[in-house]
Amino acid sequence: MSIVAPSILSADFGNLERELHTLRESGADYVHFDVMDGLFVPNISFGLPVLERVRQLTDLVLDVHLMIDRPLRYVERFCKAGADIVTVHVEADTPENVRAALEAVRNCGKVPAVCLKPATEAAAALPYLDLCGLVLVMTVEPGFGGQSFMADMMPKVTQLRRAITERKPGCRLEVDGGVNLETAPVCTAAGADVLVAGSAYFHAADRAAFVSSLHAL
Ligand code: DX5
Ligand code: ZN
Repeated sequence: MSIVAPSILSADFGNLERELHTLRESGADYVHFDVMDGLFVPNISFGLPVLERVRQLTDLVLDVHLMIDRPLRYVERFCKAGADIVTVHVEADTPENVRAALEAVRNCGKVPAVCLKPATEAAAALPYLDLCGLVLVMTVEPGFGGQSFMADMMPKVTQLRRAITERKPGCRLEVDGGVNLETAPVCTAAGADVLVAGSAYFHAADRAAFVSSLHAL
């Protein structure tokens, strides 16, 4: 059974409490929370004060995807604000600092995770696998919701699934970007077990049916 993580980047921010309530009622597992700083990606979303409020409004797993430059500066604060999983991009700092960020997340008792942009090879995640509870493969260029799924990322997902099976069983493998009813089965067939869906989830006529379809994969 796949884990379903709606990205609240596509939620109605004027009704966030209601959206989070619906999210739980529809059977979703994680709340995917996209943080963008306008530097690492060409967009700005939301950050710590919003996460603190979301933490008060839901008991679902908070899956925080940091699309920010030099995340080491902020990971502890995201943990304290209520994140359960904190994902940093391998491209966002030096290898030493990426590792230090993951260690800081682990020292807070939270789940560390690394993310790869489309141009980054699977091998870039391997030095961190020992520390990670989740690896995230971007299936669009990070920065915006509503983009088209990049099917050519599937070999990377399969490579990482193999590495995880060999070296870190239990580590989750997440995909993010353009995931919908048509592309989700492609992702799970390649080896993904956590599916982020932003626009497809929030625009679904029946959100519970959408989640059930993905759970069934
Ligand atoms: C993109 C974000 C995604 C985004 C996915 O940079 O990381 O989480 O919200 O949105 P959809 O599912 O619409 O591609
Ligand atoms: Zn994301």
